[in-house]
Amino acid sequence: MKYEDSFIANTFWKRPVTLVRGSGAKVWDSTGKEYVDCSCGYGVALLGHCNPRVVEAIKRQAEKLLTCHGSFYNDAREECLSKLAKIKPDGTDKVFISNSGAETVETAIKLCRKYTNKRGIVAMVNGYHGKTMGALSLTWAPKYREPFMPLLGDVKFAPYGKAEKLEAAIDENTGAVFVEPVQGEGGINVPPPDYLKRVREICDDKGLVMVLDEVQSGFGRTGKIWAHQHFGVKPDILCSSKALGGGMPIGATFARADIMDSLKRGEHSNTFGGNPLACAACSGAIDALLEDGLVENAAKMGGLLKKGFSELNSNMIREVRGMGLMIGIDMRFEIMGIILEALDKGVIVLESGKTVVRLLPPLTINEHEAEKVVQVVGAAIKEEEKKRTAGA
Ligand SMILES: Cc1ncc(COP(=O)(O)O)c(C=O)c1O
Repeated sequence: MKYEDSFIANTFWKRPVTLVRGSGAKVWDSTGKEYVDCSCGYGVALLGHCNPRVVEAIKRQAEKLLTCHGSFYNDAREECLSKLAKIKPDGTDKVFISNSGAETVETAIKLCRKYTNKRGIVAMVNGYHGKTMGALSLTWAPKYREPFMPLLGDVKFAPYGKAEKLEAAIDENTGAVFVEPVQGEGGINVPPPDYLKRVREICDDKGLVMVLDEVQSGFGRTGKIWAHQHFGVKPDILCSSKALGGGMPIGATFARADIMDSLKRGEHSNTFGGNPLACAACSGAIDALLEDGLVENAAKMGGLLKKGFSELNSNMIREVRGMGLMIGIDMRFEIMGIILEALDKGVIVLESGKTVVRLLPPLTINEHEAEKVVQVVGAAIKEEEKKRTAGA
């Protein structure tokens, strides 16, 4: 790939594979080799690659109108909004549409500042919110942050899952708390069952805005439309992107009406947000999510995968964890060898830091495909284990 190697910015680690086609849980490379895809574009193809409802909606819209700025009304956007209203998180009333996860976080940061008139934010250790300057300020990993300091001031990080530590991090300058209901990039970390409820109580007691970042955990991935629904809380603001457009770039920041209404005309806008093509794709995606019984499959297939990995009984595995189809295998060693070995054998998995193998398969994955994933990843773990024992 001459241009991807020499012309495009050198910011992505590349797998030695050229993907050219996808359908459901499978993708094919340029040599015709088939893979079960548990990466799904880092969580985007949650409804399966080229979901027919999404493809059909895009085709129909592409022949009608591709762009329509937010300063005009548009029928595709209207339809999309009516569908977003069906899945909007309880506690929120309005939405701002953008084009990516980081943009939804930027919107949330501005909303918090405008509404609370305070600059302080508490985010979480191991949290990830994107890499634009505002979102990066809330992203924990020092390797991403340090080359770009100074970022937004007044951001503190509290250990994830520990409500008392969050409380200790809050001061008179704090206006908002940003938290992922299940941490994705940070290692597939599921918090203790009462944690989010305690965060909600703390935010209520201290008058803080509670922002849930569901860019990765949302849209059915964990077995409910929003992961926070497992924990019985309501957010003030919720960020959603990745799977929301069925493969097309779109982001939605949902907020309580009083919070969203704190933004005046012109204080926040974009060129592409709410464009007809992304909106049509999002409408198709929501139809698929609500009408094709996909959400239920997350718990079933997630259970099957987790059981399969747990039964590998490898003492190199520290823990198998996750929720629905957001799964992490925490290993006692660095996992790049496992990722490449699985790729070679036709299964694509992701990393989450240096030691966690992350799986974000689509809701459409079937038992046969899930069995292949367990078999291939299991064999890759055993292979790596063997190499390490031999080298020890
Ligand atoms: C929880 C979370 N928030 C925000 C983002 C940033 O999204 P994007 O890469 O679309 O900017 C991500 C991306 O992985 C994410 O997982």
